[in-house]
Amino acid sequence: MTTIVVVGSLNMDFVVAVDRLPVPGETVLGRNFQMIPGGKGANQACAAAKLAGNKAQVRMVGRVGYDVFADHLKASLSAAGVDVSAVHATKSHATGVALIGVESSGQNSIVVASGANHALTASETESMRPVFHGARFVLFQLESPMDTVAAALKLARQEGARTILDPAPAQPLSSEMLANVDILTPNESEAAVLLGLPVARVTASDAPALARALRQRGPAAVVLKLGGQGCFYSDDETEMWSGACPVVPLDTTAAGDTFNAALAVALGEVRAIADALRFANAAAAISVTRMGAQASAPSRAEVDEFLSQSIGPQLG
Ligand code: RIB
Repeated sequence: MTTIVVVGSLNMDFVVAVDRLPVPGETVLGRNFQMIPGGKGANQACAAAKLAGNKAQVRMVGRVGYDVFADHLKASLSAAGVDVSAVHATKSHATGVALIGVESSGQNSIVVASGANHALTASETESMRPVFHGARFVLFQLESPMDTVAAALKLARQEGARTILDPAPAQPLSSEMLANVDILTPNESEAAVLLGLPVARVTASDAPALARALRQRGPAAVVLKLGGQGCFYSDDETEMWSGACPVVPLDTTAAGDTFNAALAVALGEVRAIADALRFANAAAAISVTRMGAQASAPSRAEVDEFLSQSIGPQLG
């Protein structure tokens, strides 16, 4: 059975629906409030377990505090089928939280207080070796300390796993770190930050050049995620578009996390890249039609049903 490991953050999301997001200095009245399990790492683990069913084992590596949110977040992952034995509690910090506004268009704004996620230190990386043992994929994001991510990427490679890095939240990364990435999955603004370019709307015609420029920084393959325009894949031998699935968005939170989880699940089943991207686009599309992070992750059966009914992904 394939093993997928996720190294990253666990946050309790405090979500408020608003007609529109506030501009700096402004107060807006929201409609309703929900607490929903989140965190980019935990979202990937939860979605991977739901999408894999009994075809993969999913393990989470992360840190929480000693508080009620920690219990809730671990229980949410366990209920989805994730092994949380490498999610340890620290006395030094509270569990991570995220304050999220979601406007009617589905667009969001997120502020994260990382808390215990920052207690996953590089000095503990060696303790991850047994967790990585036998893993086909190890998934990363950037809500953990950067030196921890860099050291764990290296360790995952040493253990024979393929690494997938979602470079979110956006920040510049060293070429040394990117050299240990097999698949890099930025959106347009993250790609711009990694390349030191002004953040501007990326058109379909820019995508091949951007993906190639990113590959020159180290990753073997790049999936450039362009929301409604779909995604562009580039490696040494293959370049292709995979169109987005047309849906009416309710909440885009964790769509990227669901995409990465689905990509790992599909590639873990040795599907061809075109098929894996189609599966990932469909899983992400379903997730944006629902509120919340982990609450929005679809099951395998839902994605299969969606793909069989849908007219198929469309290029934007
Ligand atoms: O990617 C979405 C996630 O970003 C949210 O669940 C929030 O916790 C932040 O980490």
